[in-house]
Amino acid sequence: MLNISFNEATRTFHLSNIHISYIMQVEQHNILTHTYFGRKVSGYHQIAQYPEISREFEVNFAENREGDRAYSIGTQLLEFPVYGTGDFRQTACLIRHEDGTTVSDFRYVGHEIIEGTQELSQLPSVYVEDVTEAKTLIIELRDELVQLTLKLRYTIFENHPVIVRSASIENSGTQTSFIEKIASMSLDFPERQFDLIQLNGAWGRERMLERERVRTGIKLLDSKRGTSSHHQTPFIALCDSDTTEFFGEIFGAQLIYSGSHEMSVERDPFGQVRMLLGIQSTGFRWQLQPGEQFEAPEVMIAFSDKGLNGLSQANHTFIKQHIIPRRYANLERPVLINNWEGTYFDFTEQKLHAIIDEASQLGLELFVLDDGWFGTRNDDNSSLGDWHINYDKLPKGLNGLANYTHSKQMKFGLWVEPEMISQNSHLFRQHSDWAIQAPHRPLSLGRGQCVIDMSRQEVRDNIFGQLCAILDTVEIDYIKWDMNRHLSEAHSLALSAEQQGELPHRFVLGVYDLMKRITTRYPNILFESCSGGGGRFDLGILRYMPQTWTSDNTDAIARLFIQYGSSLAFPINSMAAHVSATPNHQTHRHTSLAMRAAVAFAGVFGYEMDLTELSQADKEIISRQVEYYKQHRQLIQSGIFTRLISPFGDSNECAWQFSNRDKTEHLVMYYQVLSHASYPAKKFRLRNLCANTVYRVTSEEQSFIARGDELMHIGFYIYPQFKGDFQARVYHVEAMKE
Ligand code: DGJ
Repeated sequence: MLNISFNEATRTFHLSNIHISYIMQVEQHNILTHTYFGRKVSGYHQIAQYPEISREFEVNFAENREGDRAYSIGTQLLEFPVYGTGDFRQTACLIRHEDGTTVSDFRYVGHEIIEGTQELSQLPSVYVEDVTEAKTLIIELRDELVQLTLKLRYTIFENHPVIVRSASIENSGTQTSFIEKIASMSLDFPERQFDLIQLNGAWGRERMLERERVRTGIKLLDSKRGTSSHHQTPFIALCDSDTTEFFGEIFGAQLIYSGSHEMSVERDPFGQVRMLLGIQSTGFRWQLQPGEQFEAPEVMIAFSDKGLNGLSQANHTFIKQHIIPRRYANLERPVLINNWEGTYFDFTEQKLHAIIDEASQLGLELFVLDDGWFGTRNDDNSSLGDWHINYDKLPKGLNGLANYTHSKQMKFGLWVEPEMISQNSHLFRQHSDWAIQAPHRPLSLGRGQCVIDMSRQEVRDNIFGQLCAILDTVEIDYIKWDMNRHLSEAHSLALSAEQQGELPHRFVLGVYDLMKRITTRYPNILFESCSGGGGRFDLGILRYMPQTWTSDNTDAIARLFIQYGSSLAFPINSMAAHVSATPNHQTHRHTSLAMRAAVAFAGVFGYEMDLTELSQADKEIISRQVEYYKQHRQLIQSGIFTRLISPFGDSNECAWQFSNRDKTEHLVMYYQVLSHASYPAKKFRLRNLCANTVYRVTSEEQSFIARGDELMHIGFYIYPQFKGDFQARVYHVEAMKE
């Protein structure tokens, strides 16, 4: 039962549903403290009141003049710690006032409980389709001296172990304040030995799962790049040190935000742990004038007591139902062919026709024309910002190509990169001030290009107009929206000196505004986001675009890690996965077509190679692969995903399983990385089956019958043994009719 209660006598909030409880208390001096987040409890009898411990050298709270040295906010579990009054741990909020002071003192003044959610005004927010799906608690705290109001929002949902939080500050006074740090959430835990799990990486190596013991001190994970980045996905999790893939408690938090961010975990000298997530504070400074409000992005926190799999499944289900537009939750995605790795910039209309012809023969459903179709773009040094068709390359224009693709019963997709401008472009020659740049300093390039200042309305209007001119006249079914460099010299020629610290966040707000306008105007186009591969894979973008190009690295072995890591945070049907040529263009590794497909099957499947160069034998294999994926697409894209064996650490293997809701059908994929002499006979066990049901297990090599309990507890050997490196086996497991 979904419930938010407030006990007037003890001034305790209790948010609960069938899975979780979240408890806070308004304590003496109207300080809001944190009590508990975790598995649901039926009620709370004040058993976890913070003990009155006199701690030497803690500051006793300002109003505490009666010699009570046992009350210090420096050791309490606080709900939203602010800077300046004696809590010396990482702060969620630092505000500089007109007189130069940085002291904040927010006290509880009231609260409100509403049905459903409360949408943020400029940022992506979680949604419900019916208000009965969620309840929201809004707690109001005020700093009376400077007349600032802090609102903390908590949304709890009908059937998810998830709380969505956000914070906002309103200036109802007469002074201008500057927010120098504002987190979306802070979560304090009593003394506990945690491990921290993060998803870090770099281009071509996104979302590598790293796990370490949380030690005393601060661990800061962040992006200052203007985007969520390849380097640090805005996701962290804390779990007990004995938590595994299947057992134990874990708390995972991820920002619904696509810009620079920071996440910290601090273990204080008393073993208490604070987890903070929010927008990046380095360089951030937001001018808050009287009457204005600043909203921090939302953050989702999920709890599982069933290990990493529980967290991953909670994330998948929640994101599909409350973040990704719901019509895409289970909508089948077409199997595509993208020309990027097949031709790069070097294509002609004739060449594309030949690829489309092959693709349609092989059963592919969507052709995507990638970079290079506009301006004079024959390499990556020009034309971004000039979204005009290059008729030299495409004499019949985009319409000609779209019509040709449609005539082959395939859908047509197009690549764009709206947030960028090349110096060698008409747009730059007309509006060089539209590039993000610091006056009198060199303009740094990244991939030969500049970032366009999306904080400016006239810039967004111009790009919106150019995109609409294409989308209104060409029948386009899919858009790949790319973003290929990070923000440096983060300064806007349109903002005042006082407001320059706002640019990175204003840039993100501008991107969201443009994405919202475009995706609302073209509801039938399937959008896929991209940022040099998976450099902006986050919940903010997923609110507008239901799938993401997971990585530019299409090597099957590299993808085992990338996809396994990504699956902790993101649903399978948001992860695009393509089969590319061998040797792989990123790692130069040779793998079989079967291995490449078996890995790409575990996502939104497609091909990215020159199909006109395939041998007849490879064409036959591909056509069977496409058929196989289509047959199991619903199960893969909409089923329950279970992480069976992690490729990380010393592992030489990886496995995962897709199951339908009633457990009658499963697809299991097992991968071995390197081949070894005298290698152990590998046996593995399935999950999520009905114990008493008889299943038929079928792979290309084998077919046998077993009950669910045998498959889950005894398991079976990988047989026949693999010969050579980089091998995969795919098992179809289906309940037999009684
Ligand atoms: C980076 C993307 O990740 C690639 O897939 C491709 O679209 C290129 N950009 C095109 O420039």
